[in-house]
Amino acid sequence: MSKKQILITGGAGFIGSHVVRRFVKNYPNYHIYNLDALTYAGNLENIKDIEESSNYTFVKGDITDEPFINSLFEKHQFDGVIHLAAESHVDRSITDPLAFVKTNVIGTMTLLNAAKTIWKDDFEGKRFYHVSTDEVYGALGDTGLFTEDTAYDPNSPYSASKASSDHFVRAYGETYGLPYVISNCSNNYGSYHFPEKLIPLFINNIIQEKPLPVYGDGNYTRDWLFVEDHAVAIDLVFHKGKNHETYNIGGFNEWKNIDLVRLLCQQMDEKLGRDKGTSEELITFVKDRPGHDLRYAIDASKINKELGWEPSVTFEQGLAKTIDWYLDNEKWLKNVTSGNYQNYYKEQYG
Ligand code: NAD
Ligand code: DAU
Repeated sequence: MSKKQILITGGAGFIGSHVVRRFVKNYPNYHIYNLDALTYAGNLENIKDIEESSNYTFVKGDITDEPFINSLFEKHQFDGVIHLAAESHVDRSITDPLAFVKTNVIGTMTLLNAAKTIWKDDFEGKRFYHVSTDEVYGALGDTGLFTEDTAYDPNSPYSASKASSDHFVRAYGETYGLPYVISNCSNNYGSYHFPEKLIPLFINNIIQEKPLPVYGDGNYTRDWLFVEDHAVAIDLVFHKGKNHETYNIGGFNEWKNIDLVRLLCQQMDEKLGRDKGTSEELITFVKDRPGHDLRYAIDASKINKELGWEPSVTFEQGLAKTIDWYLDNEKWLKNVTSGNYQNYYKEQYG
C-alpha cells in the first residue's frame, strides 16, 4: 500500500515542530511534508532530531505563494493537511497587522483553494485540519468558559485574522463540501517556544537577570497547556475528529499572569541555586498591551468526552520540564536571540 501524503505547515515553529516530530515518529506509513517559510519564528534546529527520517521531507516555501502552493499540491497529491503556519504573536500584530492578514487569511485561503482543486469532488479519505486559537472568542470576565458554541468576538489583529481564517475554512466546508476539522486551543508552553512569548521570554530574562516586563497590573488570566499535550490532541482530532466539527483544547489550568510569573521565579531560583526571592525582584510592571484580553479559559469537555483526551502533566510538572529544557539548551536560546540562525538561513536559502 502506498504511503499517505501528509502536509504539515509551520512545522519549524513552536507547536508545529512537536506535531511534526510526533507524526514522523508514530506514523511510518505516512510521508510527512513540512512546509515552512522559516520566518523569524521558524527554526530547523527545532526538528533536527527527525530530519534524516525516511518518511520526512522539509520544503521551504510561503503559504501565500499561490503558484508554488498549487504546484506543491499537484506534485504530491496530499491526502491530509494539518495547517499551523501563521503569524502568532499578538504584540507583533499590533505593530504590523497586514502581515497577519497576509499569512493567516490569504495563506489559509491559498491552501484551501489548492486542496479543493486537487481533491476535486472526491473527498474520500481526505481531511483539511486547521489549527486555531481560543483568542477568536475574545475575552471572558471573571467567570465562564469558552465552549465550541461561544460567539466569535476577536479583539486583536492577530485574533481577528485567525477568526477570519476559521470562517473561511468553515465556508469551504459548507460551500464546497471540503472535509475539515478545526481546533481552538489555549496558551501553549514548553520546549522550542520562541522567547518573545511570556514564559520563554521570562525564562531567558531570569537567566540573564534582566527585568521581567509584566503588562498592566498582571491580573490577566490565561489557560496554559503543555505543548506535547496539544500535539497529542492534534493527533486525535486529525484521526478521530468528526468532519465539519470544532474542538476546543485547553489545560483546565488558569493562571493570573502575576501568579504564574511568581511561580516561575520560585522554580528558577531553586534550579539556578539562587536565594529565594532573587528573581521576583526583577518583576517590573510596564505599560499595558492595547486591547489586552482580560481572561481566556477553555471548556475542553467535548474533546475529553468524544476523543478521550486530557492533559498528561500538571502545570508545576510541565513548567519544571520546560525550565529544565531551556537550562539544558542555552545554545539554542542564545542562537535564536542572537539572530545567528536567521543569518544562516539567509546564506543557506537566499
Ligand atoms: P510560531 O510562530 O512558533 O510558528 C509559526 C511557524 O509558521 C513558523 O515556523 C514560521 O516560519 C511559519 N510561517 C509563518 N508564516 C509563514 C508563511 N507565510 N508560510 C509558511 N510558513 C510560515 O507559532 P506557534 O505558536 O507554533 O503556533 C502555531 C499555530 O498554532 C498557529 O496557527 C497559532 O495561531 C496556533 N496556536 C498557537 C497557540 C500558542 O499558544 N502558541 C495556541 C493556540 C493556537
Ligand atoms: O490563547 C492562545 C494564544 O496564546 C495563541 O493563539 C497565541 O499565538 C499565543 O501567542 C498566545 O497569546 P497571548 O497573547 O496570550 O500570549 P503571550 O505569551 O504573548 O502573553 C501571555 C500573557 O502575558 C498576556 O496576558 C500578555 C502577558 N505578557 C506577555 C509578554 C510577552 C506580559 O505581561 N509581558 C510580556 O512581556
